[in-house]
Amino acid sequence: MSEDESRCEAASHQKTVLLGVTGCIAAYKSCEIVRLLQKAGVRVKVVMTEHATEFVGPLTFRSLTHEPVGVGLFDNPSDPIHHISLAQEADLFLIAPCTANVIAKLANGLADDLLTTTALATTAPLVIAPAMNVNMYENGATRYNIGKLHIRGARIIETGDGYLACGDVGKGRLADVEDIVSAVLDELGLSRDLAGKRVMVTAGPTVEPIDPVRYISNHSSGKTGYAIARAAALRGADVTLVSGPVSIAPPEAVRTVRVRTALEMFEAAQEAFGAADIAVFAAAVADVRPKQAAPRKLKKGEADAALGAIELVENPDILATLASSKKRQVVVGFAAETDDVVANAEKKLSTKHADLVVANQVGEGKAFGTDDNQVWFVDDEGVEELPRMSKERLADAILDKALEFVR
Ligand code: C5P
Repeated sequence: MSEDESRCEAASHQKTVLLGVTGCIAAYKSCEIVRLLQKAGVRVKVVMTEHATEFVGPLTFRSLTHEPVGVGLFDNPSDPIHHISLAQEADLFLIAPCTANVIAKLANGLADDLLTTTALATTAPLVIAPAMNVNMYENGATRYNIGKLHIRGARIIETGDGYLACGDVGKGRLADVEDIVSAVLDELGLSRDLAGKRVMVTAGPTVEPIDPVRYISNHSSGKTGYAIARAAALRGADVTLVSGPVSIAPPEAVRTVRVRTALEMFEAAQEAFGAADIAVFAAAVADVRPKQAAPRKLKKGEADAALGAIELVENPDILATLASSKKRQVVVGFAAETDDVVANAEKKLSTKHADLVVANQVGEGKAFGTDDNQVWFVDDEGVEELPRMSKERLADAILDKALEFVR
């Protein structure tokens, strides 16, 4: 049975998500939401506002879902009360992206098109993923309307921070589609292949202070570790992400413990490791730290506090230390190497007490900060070379492999 089929079977009957798409530039991301929900075994039907059709044509959603797409209240002559049948069919109504205008209508019970009429008519749980300009998002009217919907039981998926299509920077970006889908699957209570499993992931760099303005660190973006944490949550795991400082948003439905230094990461990882079924050490931990962080900015050429005389001490090897006392935990380590990638990974398998080492080449713009990667899986059975793939797909591949070791 394929992975997709077994996930489908996990649902006792196929759930139907009604996906509402409103008029926003992020409407194209709804196509990916459809695909991810379908991958999780969910049937998707789409209802759009007139404005949404300016951004993505109904034909796109009809082709993706193999279902009719509703737009106008009176478009479907064979079903004169289309909004009621749609409302009854839905196990969950997700509106993503949801504009300020539609949020305002929903908050006040307005029903002047198929989407808002269906929202009023359904008793299914409502999940709303807003997307809009930062000022519209922060406007008191929108905050008030979102608050009203929240109090009435709707699940609001917080927007992300960053560059907006209008050129502004701030809140208002549609949340990551994986997080939206994760919230929907969670709301539907769908059992998935990592349900009941605890997964711990370390991610990102560590930062070792030299003085109040300088530090030792590395180029890790945290993307791989974050993708693994998100994928594990999407597959039903209870996930703890121990993260060094990164500029990406933490995944929804994941317990994120933010740390800065290797010693802080060690402490947080130690706490999560005991209960973990799968522990993935994706962080790029700084190997050394200044023995003592100077309380004031070090000056060039000062005899007592010269920059050139910083005394370094080794950081603990978090992976090797925790894995040496592993019991049922499946331990996944990483080997980021510039040379002899596989040979180095083979050594790490035993020195780090790992069940699996994911080896990849770094340097010359490879791996760090990129959106894809090419890796080798190294375990006691041998070496498997994987094709280049996105970090999201790689995350699933690592979890699939880790599941083979679950004792
Ligand atoms: O020895 P090296 O740094 O190449 O090992 C990489 C692997 O060990 C990664 O999985 C990394 O997260 C982990 N590691 C660690 N603590 C350290 C150094 C590396 O957990 N101090």
